[in-house]
Amino acid sequence: MKALVIGIPGVGKTTVLNKAKEKLPNYKVLNFGTQMLKTAKKQGTVEDRDQLRKLPANQTKKLQEKTAKKLNKKENILIDTHLAVETPKGILPGMPKWILNKLNIDRIILIESKPQNINKRREKDQSRERSDFKLPPKEHQELNRHYAATASTLTGALVKIIKNKQGKINKAAKQLAETMEEK
Ligand code: AP5
Repeated sequence: MKALVIGIPGVGKTTVLNKAKEKLPNYKVLNFGTQMLKTAKKQGTVEDRDQLRKLPANQTKKLQEKTAKKLNKKENILIDTHLAVETPKGILPGMPKWILNKLNIDRIILIESKPQNINKRREKDQSRERSDFKLPPKEHQELNRHYAATASTLTGALVKIIKNKQGKINKAAKQLAETMEEK
């Protein structure tokens, strides 16, 4: 099975995914942004991952296409990615129809947290440059649910919402792993 694992920056999706992976030995975690970054660095268009969302939309679309092509043959993967990317020009769909068509996904897992916790986690993470974010976490999480509903309708993938409560990474990871058990 293939899943998209979605969460706004700082929600803790990478942390939860890495924990869930311990319970899912047959699965690989692949970060869509990292794959895009590798290509963009080779092309010399960006230096770090926070510059990705500032690229012109037509360049981002090409990076998305390339990444999706790489992933479409893989099985049993958890794709760490975004459905609604905040760019200086507007919200960019992380998974437009033509990308979804290539990926063939079974699950869309939304990781959510309380906005105040997300803000605190972002403040603590000095390695990232997020001063350009205008969208409040609450609105961004609501937006993700709309994009998830659209992606689910287009693909037939099931949507699961998981709360990543403060200090409860294991609980969120357990729920994520259970979502991937085929029944
Ligand atoms: P990506 O790497 O996914 O960036 P991000 O969303 O900013 O991810 P982070 O890893 O910083 O945040 P996280 O939510 O995973 O939090 P973390 O686990 O570190 O993507 C990079 C870029 O690629 C994107 O910005 C975009 O431009 C581009 N991109 C990606 N996909 C794309 C697509 N499809 N189309 C176009 N562009 C795309 O946790 C944060 C902190 O919180 C940690 O310190 C952690 O210890 C702590 N924490 C987590 N959970 C808990 C908890 N329960 N209790 C206490 N502390 C916690």
